[in-house]
Amino acid sequence: MRFAFFDAKAYDKPSFEKFGAEYGVKFKFYETKLNEDTVGLARNCDGVCTFVNDTLSAAVLDQLADLDCRYLALRCAGYNNVDMKAAGECGIRVAHVPAYSPHAVAEHAIALLLTSVRRIHKAYIRTRDFNFSLNGMTGFDLYGKTVGVVGTGRIGRCFIDICKGFGMHVIAYDKFPAKDADFEYVSLEELLSRSDIVSLHCPLTDETRHMINCETIKLMKKGVVIINTSRGALIDAECLLDGIKSRQIGAACLDVYEEETDFFFEDLSGHIISDDILARLISMPNVIVTSHQAFLTEEALSNIAETTVKNIVQMKREGSCPNELIWKKGEIIHGTK
Ligand code: NAI
Repeated sequence: MRFAFFDAKAYDKPSFEKFGAEYGVKFKFYETKLNEDTVGLARNCDGVCTFVNDTLSAAVLDQLADLDCRYLALRCAGYNNVDMKAAGECGIRVAHVPAYSPHAVAEHAIALLLTSVRRIHKAYIRTRDFNFSLNGMTGFDLYGKTVGVVGTGRIGRCFIDICKGFGMHVIAYDKFPAKDADFEYVSLEELLSRSDIVSLHCPLTDETRHMINCETIKLMKKGVVIINTSRGALIDAECLLDGIKSRQIGAACLDVYEEETDFFFEDLSGHIISDDILARLISMPNVIVTSHQAFLTEEALSNIAETTVKNIVQMKREGSCPNELIWKKGEIIHGTK
């Protein structure tokens, strides 16, 4: 089996080569992202293996079907970049990696939070310059603070467990609340108005796009800390910037950004950044940006590769795959018979 592997990075190859060899899947690694211009690279392959910023529009999926490339192996959890209706209509089978290490993402969210509230990013730079002054370094205790968690799935629940360890009071909002929750569910509006810290862990859908916008930011406590390790477009970045400038938002910890596709994962040092909002956000002392790295642990990389390869084998050789995403009557069904 041959798969064209788009947006390949050095850290992807060892684990995919290892599990590919074990299960008889050969990957052709391409550094370029998949889009209408690069889709031809998938010629003579059974399918493609893609990541969060590859383009899987109807046009690209159509061309893949013309190349008889019938399998789409997403090496990530989110599938908001896939036109699932078009995939269904083209007869392209899609599978994702629903969970590989929720701990990796939850721990990164906490790392960003602690860095921000204890000014570790500033201390690191100061002490390297032998500047041992503490002026401007005053943080605040997490203990006793209210954290609002939006989305209480795999990652949200790990994040909640860690927050409880810090002695924080957890409130949560989820469209589909968990029955076994040992925390308080509230409406989104109440969550935003009561939380000292808001952390987003829900998927990007039409409903959640820009859930943090100029109106909802007004509901928040002055000085709120916002963490987003989920998908950039959950937040209207322009409103976030306004909220920071007006001091309504005390700090933002961002592992994702609405328009990240052209920037994240690439070394653009020495280039002029054309996105003024991203550049302005990064220039703020109370904004920390990491480049969609929350998933990047050894454990997660190994789990991603193993599950992706098994998904391919299950779809192609065995006919059924529990991680398949199937477009049926206007909705996405998980798993297959
Ligand atoms: P999950 O599917 O286990 O949990 C998502 C939760 O969001 C579910 O409880 C669901 O009911 C809830 N939800 C769905 N629609 C909602 C709505 N309209 N409002 C509020 N809640 C809603 O997903 P998981 O594994 O916890 O991942 C969460 C998100 O994290 C993913 O969608 C993905 O975008 C992001 N992610 C980011 C990574 C990174 O490296 N930064 C890595 C992996 C995932």
